[in-house]
Amino acid sequence: MAMIALLLAVAAGIRASSSFSFAPSSQFHVSKIPTILTNTGLRSTAEAPTERVGVTTGDTKGANLLLTNLNIATGSGNIILKSINFRVDPKERWGIVGPNGCGKSTLLGAITGTVRIDGGDALVASKVKVGYLKQTAVSGSTRTVREEAASEMEEINNARRLLDKLEEKITNGDASEKTLNDLAEAQSRFEDVGGWTQEQDVDLVLKGLGFMPTDSDRLCSDFSGGWQMRIALARLLLSQPDLLMLDEPSNHLDSSARDWLATYLSNYQGSILLVSHDVALLSKAVNSIAEVSGQTLIQYVSCSYDKYLSEKDFRAKSAMAEYERNMKEAARLQEFVDKFGASATKAASAQSRVKMIEKMKREGKLDPPPLAVVEVRRKPSLVLPDPPKGIGEKLLVLKKASIGYGDESPPILEGIDLVINRGVKLILRGPNGAGKSTLLAALRGKLPLIAGERIENERLRLGVFTQDLAQELDVTRRAMDLVTDYARGGIDGDITISNQDARGVMGRLGLSDEKPLRIVGELSGGEKARVALSMFALKASNLLLLDEPSNHLDIECIEALGESLSNWGGKDGSVVVVSHDRAFCESVGFTHVGTVKDGTVVIEERGLMDSDWARYDINGAALGGCDDIVPVVELTKEEKEEQERKRKLAFNAPKMMKKIEDKMSKAEAKIAEYETQMEEHGSDAQKLVELLNKKSMAQIEVNKLMEEYESLEAILADCAKVSCLT
Ligand SMILES: Nc1ncnc2c1ncn2[C@@H]1O[C@H](COP(=O)(O)OP(=O)(O)OP(=O)(O)O)[C@@H](O)[C@H]1O
Ligand SMILES: [Mg+2]
Repeated sequence: MAMIALLLAVAAGIRASSSFSFAPSSQFHVSKIPTILTNTGLRSTAEAPTERVGVTTGDTKGANLLLTNLNIATGSGNIILKSINFRVDPKERWGIVGPNGCGKSTLLGAITGTVRIDGGDALVASKVKVGYLKQTAVSGSTRTVREEAASEMEEINNARRLLDKLEEKITNGDASEKTLNDLAEAQSRFEDVGGWTQEQDVDLVLKGLGFMPTDSDRLCSDFSGGWQMRIALARLLLSQPDLLMLDEPSNHLDSSARDWLATYLSNYQGSILLVSHDVALLSKAVNSIAEVSGQTLIQYVSCSYDKYLSEKDFRAKSAMAEYERNMKEAARLQEFVDKFGASATKAASAQSRVKMIEKMKREGKLDPPPLAVVEVRRKPSLVLPDPPKGIGEKLLVLKKASIGYGDESPPILEGIDLVINRGVKLILRGPNGAGKSTLLAALRGKLPLIAGERIENERLRLGVFTQDLAQELDVTRRAMDLVTDYARGGIDGDITISNQDARGVMGRLGLSDEKPLRIVGELSGGEKARVALSMFALKASNLLLLDEPSNHLDIECIEALGESLSNWGGKDGSVVVVSHDRAFCESVGFTHVGTVKDGTVVIEERGLMDSDWARYDINGAALGGCDDIVPVVELTKEEKEEQERKRKLAFNAPKMMKKIEDKMSKAEAKIAEYETQMEEHGSDAQKLVELLNKKSMAQIEVNKLMEEYESLEAILADCAKVSCLT
């Protein structure tokens, strides 16, 4: 009984310790951020102070950025981030990670003054120039690409203006010694700030981000949203801010531009805050990780992304082990007190043990480790409805198709013969701007053909998921209404789909509690993408077209999407994907690889290979359709060795998988047993905490086993693909 009282007190302590008070935000000079990015007006409320656009400068104690006791809540009072203390020193490069909707963009918004701060400070050192790329940035300019990209190279632009002015003075007849000296000084300043190499620098960045040399003189307004974001990114990088803040900058980049950006950032001289779900980018670009978890920021200083993952696991296990040790110790002490508390001879010893327990309590040793450290998140999952049967083999055919955007510009793709048979999983790859998304838009029927034919199977049911679709959802509608309207509407709609069905799908994708009832405008970028995925998942399709589906989604959600696509389709469903996300692509298990290049498409019947990620710009050979299979690209020596290694592993994989299955069944049985016991001991707080801990440990074990199992499965699938070709 005494132990239960103790635990209840501990539990009360947890609640007390997680509450916090909001300090009034201090007033500092607010300076405008040099980059021109429109403010979307995040969650301002009636009682909100005037929204600030710009950073707040103040005493940062030598850091570039200093966050002190920062608290942020939504307009309706839900806490997003609490008591954040964080400093970013010059030259530090931080990756900010965490699941969709945890508050990463909110954090950057608070620093840049576009999100209201409810308590504490976010201060930038006064001389520090800040640059910020929003998750949904567009350039919004009417200048040419080159002019726009160079427009914020302040020092160079100022030096050039001065130079021009002095040259004009001299041309107008002022050849005084002073003016000539000023000119010499201005020339040397221009040289020092890199004025002579400005054009090359601009070209280098534009090229790195995927622009063709001929694009530089085109107007920004001629470019699509994704390319406008690249222009904004180029302008920002060229402006060389001391504190560079990027919110998912690689969402609109293909793999070569991503690689370039990763290298560029890894050599960046200023400090960086990079929000991203892109493991390859994070692994290369940053050297410390801050994870938003449980409304707080957990910092891993001087940690690569890989090291952060293992360190995080280690911290969780150590915290849990220490907590269990302390609880055992407290129970042992309490047992003594219960047994001998009333005894005349042992009363003093019992009393001292009571004090020891109290001390442990005071020191927080009996508080369970914070959720932020030990939380085992439920993995999102996605189950796609079985595909309806089509008539015959062919689901969709393009015949002699010319595809492009009309007007005066020539077609991007010409003479395309493409047959999407049922049961095909096709990935489209190719260099920047080769026309992958354009081809997908033509397959969708969204982009009318300039010439040729698009023939649909009579029973074609198209399912489309593009990142733009997700970001273009009607922001004023409730998420659930959008999902149900879509699922029930159209000729292939199903009016029997209930709100509950929608809730189920959304909940499994992590949109639980009140999130389905929120208007879309009040969801994070990744949450919006999950809403679009839910729409996709409620309607049965036999051809799924996905364009860069993994953008905005967090790693776990991408895994769920990859897994569901790999299990989906059978002989009736087909998938066509454009994606640069290697881990995602490898999880789908493609049967065909299409290379879009030089105005044509080459289809090969094979799975993805390592060389596909390195050889984007070569092998643009002859055109082929699904019907005529082009020879497979020859493997390099390393690839052959890798395949051999995988074959060997695959040989042993079934046995290993069986063992893992057995272990998983045991661990799952344990979880079920703990759950039953928890129901039985509903009123015994001590027992409940104990069981909860045991259950979490068992869950961690199941997750690990599952990962091992999946990696073996992937190896098996890979080898199956290779052997069917050789
Ligand atoms: N305009 C808004 N009004 C109200 N709540 C919002 C708004 N935008 C986001 N939120 C909520 O605030 C929380 C944090 O959102 P935020 O955009 O910071 O997440 P994030 O970590 O950047 O996620 P993502 O990885 O999806 O971009 C989420 O619960 C989200 O639903
Ligand atoms: Mg975000």
